[in-house]
Amino acid sequence: MSSKLIYNEQQYTLDANKTLLENLESQSVSVEFHCRDGHCGACRSILVSGDVTYSNFPMAYLKEGEILLCCSRSEKNITIKTI
Ligand code: FES
Repeated sequence: MSSKLIYNEQQYTLDANKTLLENLESQSVSVEFHCRDGHCGACRSILVSGDVTYSNFPMAYLKEGEILLCCSRSEKNITIKTI
């Protein structure tokens, strides 16, 4: 069974081999981004539930509970929303 990615209360499928940003883009979801490598913070989002791992070290400033979609992945169901 594939994992689920809930973004702004809409449900999408989650591919653990893609970043969360790539997952959303591949399912035609419009998401804010700029650098795509963890520096600018444009893709900051709120992690509602679940866990992420980072492929690039997240350089952008993050408040508690925030993640960067461009360089994070998840292997299990995850719920996120825009800031
Ligand atoms: S797009 Fe720049 S930190 Fe994610």
